[in-house]
Amino acid sequence: MSNLDYHTPVLLNEVLQFLDVKQGGIYVDCTLGGGGHFWAIASRLSEKGVMVGIDRDLEAVEHNRKRSAAAVKATTIISRGRFSDFDKVLDENGIECVDGFLLDLGVSSHQIDEPQRGFSYMLDSTLDMRMDSTAGITARELLLSSTREELTHILECFGEIRNASRMARALKDWLEHRSLDTSTDIRNCIISEYGPNVKYKVLAKLFQALRIAVNRELEELTMFLHKSLGYLCAGGRLAVISYHSLEDRAVKEFIVANEGKCICPRDLPVCVCDKPSLLKRVSRKAVVPKEEELKSNPRSRSARLRVASRTEQDA
Ligand SMILES: C[S@@+](CC[C@H](N)C(=O)[O-])C[C@H]1O[C@@H](n2cnc3c(N)ncnc32)[C@H](O)[C@@H]1O
Repeated sequence: MSNLDYHTPVLLNEVLQFLDVKQGGIYVDCTLGGGGHFWAIASRLSEKGVMVGIDRDLEAVEHNRKRSAAAVKATTIISRGRFSDFDKVLDENGIECVDGFLLDLGVSSHQIDEPQRGFSYMLDSTLDMRMDSTAGITARELLLSSTREELTHILECFGEIRNASRMARALKDWLEHRSLDTSTDIRNCIISEYGPNVKYKVLAKLFQALRIAVNRELEELTMFLHKSLGYLCAGGRLAVISYHSLEDRAVKEFIVANEGKCICPRDLPVCVCDKPSLLKRVSRKAVVPKEEELKSNPRSRSARLRVASRTEQDA
């Protein structure tokens, strides 16, 4: 399977431009997927460069390990694991600081299109949704084991679903007499609660909430962001592509919090907070796909790229 059949990389030219790839640099693609970004960056590096790719999904790792690196001069390292543990991979390879991190969050097209992975509400798929199919609980198990209150919290916080308690009640009541093993079961349950004209957006939000909870996506992102500061060389770039507002907000707030803006109360005559400036925004606003990309790859429609560079301070 070619990289493009596996997944079409989103905002590829923009990522290459904003990462400001240096030929002899060290870059880490924390979300390897089909390898679109990984191999494009790797091919721009010289023999002095190092390209590290990480994914928690075995299929993604195997797909990229099978690919011949003959055309690439740089050293390539492909590792299976969670990106919140990227420091272990760098430490094992004696890498102290890097010139760029890339995170292209969410799931790949390959993961969405494989019915047994359970990510799609459009297919009749088993309710798994784990990016790493060998670890943690599935979405089906999550639905069974969580209380109505816990489920309400998941739907409200990760799906931004209004009146989440109604949906949580419907799902838990359904489970008293029937099963929720597949996406079709979920669709039937939601239709029985909201009627046959229920919008696809409702199902999309429910699936998003379950996926984020199953994979602990926001915890992963927060852990990664905090660690990344300690591993970026001065001038190194942090580039994150998000696909929903929860992730994008977390990235934006992290960058703003580390820009060193004074947080003293307004009535203090002088600054006493002495906040260090560790990051500088490279693009003021989030970068979004151009019309042409939206036409050729509709799955890019919600992508937002934010980029910051590490300042000299404490780097
Ligand atoms: C949108 S895809 C990346 C696509 C890739 N940039 C490309 O061009 O093909 C996201 C990938 O990140 C992986 N992923 C998501 N969260 C992860 C995490 N916390 N740790 C490691 N991999 C993760 C998923 O398994 C998936 O393969």
